[in-house]
Amino acid sequence: MELLRLCNITKTYRSSGILRRRPDVHALRDVSLHVNRSEIVGLVGASGCGKSTLGRIILRLERADGGKLWLNEREMFHAEPRRASFAYRSLVQMIFQDPFASLNPAHSVAYHLERPLLRHGLATQGEFKKRVHDLLHMVGLTPVERMAQAYPYVLSGGQRQRVAIARALAVNPRLIVADEPTSMLDVSIRMDILNLLARLRREQELGLLLITHDLASARYLTDRLIVLNQGVIVESGPTESVINGPKDPYTALLLDAIRNPRLERRPS
Ligand SMILES: Nc1ncnc2c1ncn2[C@@H]1O[C@H](COP(=O)(O)OP(=O)(O)O)[C@@H](O)[C@H]1O
Ligand SMILES: [Mg+2]
Repeated sequence: MELLRLCNITKTYRSSGILRRRPDVHALRDVSLHVNRSEIVGLVGASGCGKSTLGRIILRLERADGGKLWLNEREMFHAEPRRASFAYRSLVQMIFQDPFASLNPAHSVAYHLERPLLRHGLATQGEFKKRVHDLLHMVGLTPVERMAQAYPYVLSGGQRQRVAIARALAVNPRLIVADEPTSMLDVSIRMDILNLLARLRREQELGLLLITHDLASARYLTDRLIVLNQGVIVESGPTESVINGPKDPYTALLLDAIRNPRLERRPS
């Protein structure tokens, strides 16, 4: 079943300033894609190709210049022309790259998880504790009683990212957009977070759009890949077929970058 569909999404950042005019940035040009229920789709491409812009447009944190967006077969830009509604927010959630910036140091883990429950009216005063514990359990932050009371500064990057994932799950979303969710984490922890996302897809039937410049992570987790180059989709298909037989030269170049060990080595 189709969860999200984008059709011909276009976004241009106009240059500002009168004297020193810089050229406009065509961040996205006619981008069309879809994500099905329980499907993990990877949006890959080099830095600056427009991935995060597309993520923000899907979250409706930013407006597209043109194109359409359907969620659960409902045309959303038309239905809600301005800001995303509460209902939309409860269906689509985002996880950001930086687990250190995304949590408030002044508040406990429990506070971060209670807030969306409260705002969306998803729990009464008596139910908060259990809901928070359930969420912590779901993302593997145990013992849950201790984790609920903890403040972000005592948590590792991986644990903070788990809190951010739990917070996204609090409102029972159907789609999660994860923008480089593991790129600021230690290599040893990346796999744990990818495995957590894989388990959530299975258990919660979540759709996931994984935005990443890291093809190795995308290969590990995704069913389908979409390759973006300078705001244009140059290739898409089942992950293994794109990786084993890239049709576009840009995809081949991205693949070379992860396969070629010489590029990993520092200059001596
Ligand atoms: N708010 C903005 N104002 C002007 N240009 C922007 C803005 N956000 C992104 N851009 C530009 O749009 C292009 C795509 O950026 P982005 O979506 O962040 O790429 P990615 O996430 O793939 O690295 C880049 O050239 C970037 O400089
Ligand atoms: Mg980005």
